[in-house]
Amino acid sequence: MLQLIKRCPEYTLDYKEYCQELYDNKVVYFRPSNPDTIDEDWFSRTKSWYEKKEKGLVEGQSPSFHYWAVDDGKFIGEFQLRTEFTEKVLKEIGSIGYAVRVSEWGKGYGTKMLRLGLALAKEHGMEKVLFTINDKNTTSIHVCEKLGGKLEDIIKAYNEVEGEHMLRRYWICL
Ligand SMILES: CC(C)(COP(=O)(O)OP(=O)(O)OC[C@H]1O[C@@H](n2cnc3c(N)ncnc32)[C@H](O)[C@@H]1OP(=O)(O)O)[C@@H](O)C(=O)NCCC(=O)NCCS
Repeated sequence: MLQLIKRCPEYTLDYKEYCQELYDNKVVYFRPSNPDTIDEDWFSRTKSWYEKKEKGLVEGQSPSFHYWAVDDGKFIGEFQLRTEFTEKVLKEIGSIGYAVRVSEWGKGYGTKMLRLGLALAKEHGMEKVLFTINDKNTTSIHVCEKLGGKLEDIIKAYNEVEGEHMLRRYWICL
């Protein structure tokens, strides 16, 4: 059964494999950690940084919570939740970031992860979440609309990886 769990040291090398798959396939819609930086000590090296992010202690950033998706011990993907609507959340990154490892695409995991993630957002006290999706990311658009995303608008956006692009903004009420 698919579960969203808090990051934990046991899955560090599986996380690295997942990151490697996204890198090898040049996925630009979600950038995970650089797999070359991940080794057995990576979890302990980065632990305090992620704790700081959860507490909202990183200047200018919304508090953010990082979960890993695991199905019966198999690492499937990651889910990030940002609980405040900062300018960057509203205009660039949205409340949610998530990805499924490329070898597991098309098996229903993305939809399941998002469902679980929306329930988590509610547990975090959120009443709605904002999705920002590159207009060319038709799979993510499909999943978001399937789970009730209502299109607010389509705005111009830029980042280093995606370059200039059109960004769809969707709200999902929880
Ligand atoms: C978006 C993503 C999470 C979807 O994961 P997934 O496990 O493949 O999703 P699912 O299998 O649950 O569903 C995929 C749906 O998209 C549909 N789909 C597949 N390719 C598609 C395409 N090119 N255009 C539109 N819809 C498409 C499938 O038919 C399926 O719909 P259905 O369940 O109604 O039949 C995955 O592609 C991914 O990790 N992408 C890279 C990171 C990313 O884009 N994250 C979101 C950033 S906003």
